[in-house]
Amino acid sequence: MPLTAVRRLIVERADPIAGRCRYVADLGNELVPRPILTARRGEAFRGTVENRLPQPTTVHFHGLALSEAQDGAGFDAILPGAAKTLEFQIRNRSGLYWLHAHPHGFTAEQVHAGLAGLLVVTDGEDATLDAALALAPGNRLALAIADARVANGSVLPYAPSAEECLHGWFGNRALVNGALDARFTAAPGWVRLQILNACNARGLLLAFKENEKENEREGGEAVPFHLLGTDGGLLAAPVALDRVFLHSAERVDVAIDVSGLREIAALSLPFDPRHQVKAGLLAHPHPARGRYRPLAADTVCTDGGRREPSNTLPDGAELPLFTLTGSGQKMAAPPLPSRLSSLPEVSGRTDAPSRTLRQDFDERAGFVIDGTPYRIEENAFSVTRGVREIWEVRNSPISMPHPMHLHGFGFRVLRRRGTFGPARALASESAGRLPTDLGVKDTLVIWPNETVWLAVDFSLPDDAAFRGRQRYMFHCHNLEHEDGMMMRNFSVL
Ligand code: C2O
Ligand code: CU
Ligand code: CU
Repeated sequence: MPLTAVRRLIVERADPIAGRCRYVADLGNELVPRPILTARRGEAFRGTVENRLPQPTTVHFHGLALSEAQDGAGFDAILPGAAKTLEFQIRNRSGLYWLHAHPHGFTAEQVHAGLAGLLVVTDGEDATLDAALALAPGNRLALAIADARVANGSVLPYAPSAEECLHGWFGNRALVNGALDARFTAAPGWVRLQILNACNARGLLLAFKENEKENEREGGEAVPFHLLGTDGGLLAAPVALDRVFLHSAERVDVAIDVSGLREIAALSLPFDPRHQVKAGLLAHPHPARGRYRPLAADTVCTDGGRREPSNTLPDGAELPLFTLTGSGQKMAAPPLPSRLSSLPEVSGRTDAPSRTLRQDFDERAGFVIDGTPYRIEENAFSVTRGVREIWEVRNSPISMPHPMHLHGFGFRVLRRRGTFGPARALASESAGRLPTDLGVKDTLVIWPNETVWLAVDFSLPDDAAFRGRQRYMFHCHNLEHEDGMMMRNFSVL
């Protein structure tokens, strides 16, 4: 559904018992729940967000280059019953972007409740690729994969303990575009999947295998695929893979030739999740929590007694995601184009960093950036607009993987060091970069003990909306960490 057709985006709680929520797009003559939005690069959007939740909310367009006023980052939350007009132009390259709730202290709960939607941005390069792949109608899908705790077919309310606020909230089942046991049908030839990890905290090691017979659980052949793009759009050239890490908020764009296949299972392969930390005496100060009730009829962040979590699978456990049903018919798919976009190569060498950021663990505050728990009114640093900076971001050994996200600006990965073995084994070149590091990123996992070097271009559009100081955020997209204290604000001046 075209984003430009949306007049009103209603944020509502659809089920007060379990606390499930949804976005509803009002097109003027029709209401569409859980829309998958599309837009062409260059298009402008104007619409009203209406908050019908019992909590403050915002709509953050993750990955888009927006001004502070439109970014929806939580500086200016929409109170229950209130509305706000959004107005912006889409300047990003084609790719899969997404919108989600981002009110500080409530983000994890609201996103888990279902307040996450997809936005597919298209442009000329994207259309050229689809034509070269000769995609059959229905063979291009945009998928948001979340995990939830499911018992007897229903999603259990979000109610993490202090321990779960430290490690993250992990479900036992995958929800794909909101559905359990999702199944899609594909015609023979190429299938193009744009996939978002919308889990609060779970990392995925995405792979595909062929299910030979129904009822046969083990032993399917791995189905190879090609990485076409990442968070911020198409790579310069496709990369052939058999697995790819996809952490919270990251996106991949992949092509699979399903000719001759009957049933393909998408799954997350088992991996060592590297949670190298134990809970201390975690205090959880969510200042606004006292004033607003949880979405579900249950509590959030219970500080007291340790209860054994049920209906959960640990991070890194194998998890079935969805199924693609093919016809089994053989067909010669056209060759993949060797060039996908005009994305320039960045050098893997490192210039001197202009800024160093550390990820630490604090016994009381949990995970923090530069030893400083988040405060909404604080400005960690200022950046001069138009300047290209090199960020050196280092994760401590006593840690876990943190999917770090930068608002407002896509970045390029220059180098990784200290990557743990199984991830390092997927690296394709000497700078230690993974195939997903070769594209434009806005979110990037940093493993314990790892250091990454990023190049960020802080140019802002020459447009009235971007005049004056613009505040953005750099934070962990493990949403329990984000609502915890692993976030900093910075200004572009
Ligand atoms: Cu996807 Cu600060 O967010
Ligand atoms: Cu974002
Ligand atoms: Cu984190």
